[in-house]
Amino acid sequence: MIGGRKDEHIRIASSSDVEVGDSLFDGVQLIHNALPEMDFNDVDSTIELFNKRLSFPFIIGALTGGTETAGRVNAVLAKAAEEFGIGMYVGSQRIALMKPETAWSFRVVKDNAPSALKIANLGAPQVSRLSDRDLVDWVNEAVDMINADAVAIHLNPAQELFQPEGEPWFSGVLGKLKLIRRVVNRPLIIKEVGNGVSMEVARMLNSIPPDAIDVAGHGGTSFIRIEAIRGGELSKADVFRDWGIPTVLSICEVSSVYDGVIIASGGVRNGLDGAKAIALGADAFTMSRPMLVSALKGYEAVRELINKLMWEFKATMFLTGSRRVEDLKKTPVVANLPILLWLIQRGVKCKLTTNIYNQIKPIASMLINKVFNTTEH
Ligand SMILES: Cc1cc2nc3c(=O)[nH]c(=O)nc-3n(C[C@H](O)[C@H](O)[C@H](O)COP(=O)(O)O)c2cc1C
Repeated sequence: MIGGRKDEHIRIASSSDVEVGDSLFDGVQLIHNALPEMDFNDVDSTIELFNKRLSFPFIIGALTGGTETAGRVNAVLAKAAEEFGIGMYVGSQRIALMKPETAWSFRVVKDNAPSALKIANLGAPQVSRLSDRDLVDWVNEAVDMINADAVAIHLNPAQELFQPEGEPWFSGVLGKLKLIRRVVNRPLIIKEVGNGVSMEVARMLNSIPPDAIDVAGHGGTSFIRIEAIRGGELSKADVFRDWGIPTVLSICEVSSVYDGVIIASGGVRNGLDGAKAIALGADAFTMSRPMLVSALKGYEAVRELINKLMWEFKATMFLTGSRRVEDLKKTPVVANLPILLWLIQRGVKCKLTTNIYNQIKPIASMLINKVFNTTEH
């Protein structure tokens, strides 16, 4: 049954209209540099993440595993991760822990990508119901299965709620995450699956703290929609069409309160979006659904997509005069009014709002002084 669900996710995500909302990357603009004072060849897009060198800050997003088709998708993506020197998440490994005969569909990742950055994956509701002992065993087994360099635990309350056989069990999750952090000898990533992470949640996560937060914001693939299609109740999904924190805003919210690595995902659709995410405060970016669609077409389609992404990312570095990814983080960035209104209402202190707050401060104190002096007379 769980295998059937994995294949349905692949089929629906690759053939139906499952992208809703707006990740808001179009509302963000980087400032063109007419005098970059370097050649295009001087661009160095490499970064180091979790002790692995990446050719550019890109990780293939968490997708699948556990069935014949999923195994083929994982093998193709892993081969590309190895060839390009990029990272790769696998999909939730619960299926392989419950049905060991399916573990091969994850193992193909370590076979095809022996030196790439590999990230294991389990779901929060499932780990929340395990005894501490079983939890540690599960996580260690998931790591060994793909020789993972890091472990991701996904938070997916909306998906579980809309999933016909869902498990919306979120009590006790924070304690289990703390346990994983203590006993598992790998960096811990906490990720969403497409509805975003708020600054309040990032503050709660600070009590763990994880090594990375993957915001997986709203505006790309909608699991509310995928599960509603599976359940034949699309009208339920329509009501919650705009539910979630758009990716751009989630990056800003999380970066305002959290000091660790930030991974941007959810509706990132080209290398320019990825570069904007990094200029806003992320350290790396991922893409899921487009990788799945390409992997189903075959290896050449995946190569083409990654080559395109890498060129777009490097082009943006050149056009902002960013020799290294660290420079891109410092490049100026502006945003449109809806983005700014959200950030100001939420009191988010990030790169986009610092100037505004600095400019408002003297005006506000002048006004206060004026009111104060007037009332004195
Ligand atoms: C078919 C499919 C299966 C997915 N399975 C998982 C999963 O098992 N674990 C997980 O953490 N995220 C999973 N995701 C969520 C993605 O990792 C990502 O957060 C989300 O799709 C948003 O990114 P996108 O807009 O680039 O697709 C899945 C996404 C898709 C499309």
